[in-house]
Amino acid sequence: MEWNDTFNIGIDVIDQQHRQILDYINILEQIRVTGDKSKIKEVLDDLIDYTQSHFTFEENLLEQVNYQFLPSHRGIHELFVKKLIGYRQKFDMGISVEGDLHRLLSKWLINHIRHDDQDYVDAVRDNMLRYLRTQEEKKGKGWFARFFS
Ligand SMILES: [Fe+2]
Repeated sequence: MEWNDTFNIGIDVIDQQHRQILDYINILEQIRVTGDKSKIKEVLDDLIDYTQSHFTFEENLLEQVNYQFLPSHRGIHELFVKKLIGYRQKFDMGISVEGDLHRLLSKWLINHIRHDDQDYVDAVRDNMLRYLRTQEEKKGKGWFARFFS
């Protein structure tokens, strides 16, 4: 699955991380096709680790801006991680789950980006603008400013 510019939410650092997750999903699919099971496990582990750190990063950002729907957003992340870990456990047990992975993962990721993540963009932007306005002397050097191009 190719990255498409409509997947960008406009917060550069988050967009880069989403692209990285999509890359992992694609690598996983390539390996699945070639059938190297030992490598599938490795990439699945990497995908889970990376996704978890991305979620943590995103939740920290949303905490900084007091995003009002953070609890439900966090809940969605937790469910997804549980789902990923479930796949890994099934895979470890020798159950063939690889076939569903690419379809489900890419569908979930794009859906999440387009709906759940898109919803917090305004909150993050508003907060950043307020932050920059009250910290004139630090203009362009603030924590938030680093993440906007
Ligand atoms: Fe998210």
